[in-house]
Amino acid sequence: MDTETLIQQLDGLGLGEIRYAEQISSTNEVGLTWLGQGAPDLSLVVADEQTAGRGRFDRRWVTRPGAALALSLILRPTQAEADRLRLFSALGAFGVADALEGLYGLAPQIKWPNDVLLNFHKVAGILVETAWIGDRIQGMVIGIGVNVNPGAVPPPEEVQFPATSVEEALGRAADRWQLLREMLARLVYWRGRVGSPEFYAAWEGRLAFRGEWVQIVSGYDTPGDLEGRIQGINPDGSLRLSDADGKERSVDIGDVHLRPARSK
Ligand code: BTN
Repeated sequence: MDTETLIQQLDGLGLGEIRYAEQISSTNEVGLTWLGQGAPDLSLVVADEQTAGRGRFDRRWVTRPGAALALSLILRPTQAEADRLRLFSALGAFGVADALEGLYGLAPQIKWPNDVLLNFHKVAGILVETAWIGDRIQGMVIGIGVNVNPGAVPPPEEVQFPATSVEEALGRAADRWQLLREMLARLVYWRGRVGSPEFYAAWEGRLAFRGEWVQIVSGYDTPGDLEGRIQGINPDGSLRLSDADGKERSVDIGDVHLRPARSK
């Protein structure tokens, strides 16, 4: 791949500027720097390999050459979007999930807030980072990493949650660039609908472990775990849980992740 070919591949999606690199530190890092230098809305950074890819909770995210999709989409939120920033964590997951279903007929789920699962194994992770000038948001970078072929899947001892790749779920080769195009098309579609009834319905429709008993764990694995049965998503993007007596409580998107727990 090269920048010119990628620009052609993504033609007609209404993106801003596009940068491609064979090797990069982290597309999010480069995206944030570019944002500060004036990157237009919907500009895109794509890399074949990352040497310092980052995940949520300061974890490392390894991207090996030829095996994955690693990209960062830069958004310059409107005022209406700035009022709903928390909901944008789901946007990248919507793009990935819709594309996997639309192109390959797979049945992806979203592990709240934004991991994409196939057959209860993580296939993609999303890291949203924001840049502020005082209390005004300058922009946001939606970083997406997708395990496309089995070479992208880290060994079990290196992951918090079992992982898989698109090709393992599909049982055949997948075209990374076709997948990228479809993901971005779907993401742009959903961007215009963040916070709409359709948006919440889609999120809840794809919600992994809905109706099941889960544990909410601090991302940094500090004590204070919380358990409950997943009921759905609140309008602010928080997760609605009920306890054993049916009493409801909400968990904010933040420094937490969830894992299945033994049913109560
Ligand atoms: C996670 O599940 O912890 C989030 C992983 C996000 C990885 C992507 S790969 C492209 C972008 N650049 C990065 O450095 N991270 C994100």
